[in-house]
Amino acid sequence: MPTVHFRGEKIECREGATLRDVLLDADLTPHNGKATVLNCRGFGNCGTCAVKVDGEVSDKGIRERGRLLVPPHHPNYDLRLACQTKVMGDVTVEKYPGMWGTQVAKEPLPPLADDDAEAADEPTAADAADDQTPADAD
Ligand code: FES
Repeated sequence: MPTVHFRGEKIECREGATLRDVLLDADLTPHNGKATVLNCRGFGNCGTCAVKVDGEVSDKGIRERGRLLVPPHHPNYDLRLACQTKVMGDVTVEKYPGMWGTQVAKEPLPPLADDDAEAADEPTAADAADDQTPADAD
């Protein structure tokens, strides 16, 4: 049974489970701030469930590849859409700041046990502006 490591939490799931569903079922979320409510509910359209994944997961499908080409995403960010990613083995998942979680030049969000984790989840107006900046993560 695969284990998902996310922000200091460990969640077991069945092989082939959708990463976004695994997190939501554990009362966690791949979304930041208002995107927790304002998202496409897993259809691969909004891009706000983007996370960095290290481990065994499904390959990107055409929908995911297409969405990750559209700003504020950029192919150099090496992110995955949690709603389009199937967990195939043990994985470590990181979420970056910003409405879409695309601020990959910053540190990923800290473990949830950290006292200031909640404040770090809330994107600021400056974060939203950063998400609109063209990618230069070469
Ligand atoms: S929830 Fe919208 S792209 Fe994943």
